[in-house]
Amino acid sequence: MFAREIMRRSPLYADLCAAIADTPDVLALLDAADIAHRRPVQLLAALHYQVLSNRTHPLRSQYPSTDGQPGPDLVPTALAACRDDADALRHLIAHRNVQTNEVGRSPLIMIGLSRLSPGEPVDLVDIGTSAGLNLHADRYRTTCVGLDGTALATWGDADPSLSCVIRSSGFQMPQPATIHGRRGLDPDPIRSDDDDALRWLDACIWPDQSERRDRVRAAIATAQSEPPSIDTARLPDGIDATVSAARTGARTALITSWVLAYLPPADRIATIETFTSAIADDDAVALLLESPQECPNLPWPDSASGSRRTEMLAGQRSASGDVTWTHLGTAHPHGIWFLPL
Ligand SMILES: C[S@@+](CC[C@H](N)C(=O)[O-])C[C@H]1O[C@@H](n2cnc3c(N)ncnc32)[C@H](O)[C@@H]1O
Repeated sequence: MFAREIMRRSPLYADLCAAIADTPDVLALLDAADIAHRRPVQLLAALHYQVLSNRTHPLRSQYPSTDGQPGPDLVPTALAACRDDADALRHLIAHRNVQTNEVGRSPLIMIGLSRLSPGEPVDLVDIGTSAGLNLHADRYRTTCVGLDGTALATWGDADPSLSCVIRSSGFQMPQPATIHGRRGLDPDPIRSDDDDALRWLDACIWPDQSERRDRVRAAIATAQSEPPSIDTARLPDGIDATVSAARTGARTALITSWVLAYLPPADRIATIETFTSAIADDDAVALLLESPQECPNLPWPDSASGSRRTEMLAGQRSASGDVTWTHLGTAHPHGIWFLPL
């Protein structure tokens, strides 16, 4: 079923998933994962990591990520490689979890921050930051374009080049916010000087998703020239310490993107309570890019409630001192387009 689901996004993984599902001894490699991570992508990421690590791996000629092209030998070569490397694969499957960092979300973050603090400085705190690549959201060479292809806003001069289509006529981009402090938090931070962790991040991108891979590789190169500061903590812990360490005197902007879905409901609720206190007590703002269906316990207004898509939710303090949560729009999960409300 997963193979059918991903056919359009990754024909290569669709073929491999279908074959692995029919090959019990290879499928059994996933028994090394704890039950929450026993998913096909965990095995495929481990196999991809082996391909990226080993210059003579037989799948290199079949994987676009190593300049190969999938051919008729893809499936038998992959199944043989799984059997030959079974012990190493079991170790990876048991000790690592699929982890991504989608830098294509940076334009969405800038759009949201600019709505919340137009033209003003913010101290950006990215919760569940992974490799911290979205902490450089203002630096990437970005163009927001209208439906007719006209540039609506541009900023940044660092790689990668990013583009976001605004799916609405008449959208006025507010004056961009400026980022002063920047700091992330993650239970498993990927440091930009840790080649092995960066290889795992690369391995978690599907081999035939070359645009996504190019974006991440370029953003890593930018991050290596200015490594992001990342604290190690598991939500709901650690937020206050990271906010304090990020502080330069500007308004705090707390963000999450595709993080809260991974939390048990009680931790998700506690995290939102901490965000709400920071908004109420310290005039912070919050920007969430999450899926309401995956995160039902967030303060989603009716316009977003139950949506399966990536919705942008903004928290801020009103003139009367209340905390309000506003639905700003719907986005492509990788930031390719934004539909403002
Ligand atoms: C899908 S990735 C998204 C990363 C990044 N926010 C982005 O948009 O690319 C999910 C991230 O959430 C982090 N995460 C998972 N559980 C967490 C927790 N309990 N507390 C904080 N972060 C967590 C993971 O380590 C991972 O880096």
